[in-house]
Amino acid sequence: MYKPRYYNFNTVNGMTRKQLDEHYNLYVGYINKLGQINNLLKEKDSYEDPNSTYSTLRCLKKGESYSLNGIILHQLYFGNITGQKSEISGKILKMINRDFGSYDNFVEMFTSVGLSMRGWVVLVQGEYNGKLRIIGQDSHDNGSIYNGNPILAMDVYEHAYMIDFGTNKKEYIKVFFENINWDVVNKRIDNRI
Ligand SMILES: [Fe+2]
Repeated sequence: MYKPRYYNFNTVNGMTRKQLDEHYNLYVGYINKLGQINNLLKEKDSYEDPNSTYSTLRCLKKGESYSLNGIILHQLYFGNITGQKSEISGKILKMINRDFGSYDNFVEMFTSVGLSMRGWVVLVQGEYNGKLRIIGQDSHDNGSIYNGNPILAMDVYEHAYMIDFGTNKKEYIKVFFENINWDVVNKRIDNRI
């Protein structure tokens, strides 16, 4: 069973504890909800009268994907904005230069995808060739790529920035970049963590 992971939000600059704590509470909510869903999926009653328009099982399976991806994505996100902040270097810098031309190009593209999406932007090492790809998602359970290794995640749901930035999503994305822990991102390459 999932247990909420600890993240040291004191290391995050430019975002308030109120913003980060409220966000963390949502993450804990997904963990709790997944626990309820897992229990219901063990009960035989849940599998009775299955139907793709409406059924108990349909609701449970939709909720399972949503909460499970929500947990994983938030762990990626909190993990890559906390801890020891670092300058971009090492393998990730070489890969970004190779696949996006330059770091500045990458920041511009990642930011634009963030402004275009309602849920998530995820930098994925994938799917079969190891090249980097920027994935845009409108929700936890929409747009994920199988066989892609997620190495950097940015939450662009409004709950991620509204308290601190109002509707100024672009400023939030700028602050997100200032807080990226590139050491964590480097360790995620090739699924090393
Ligand atoms: Fe979120």
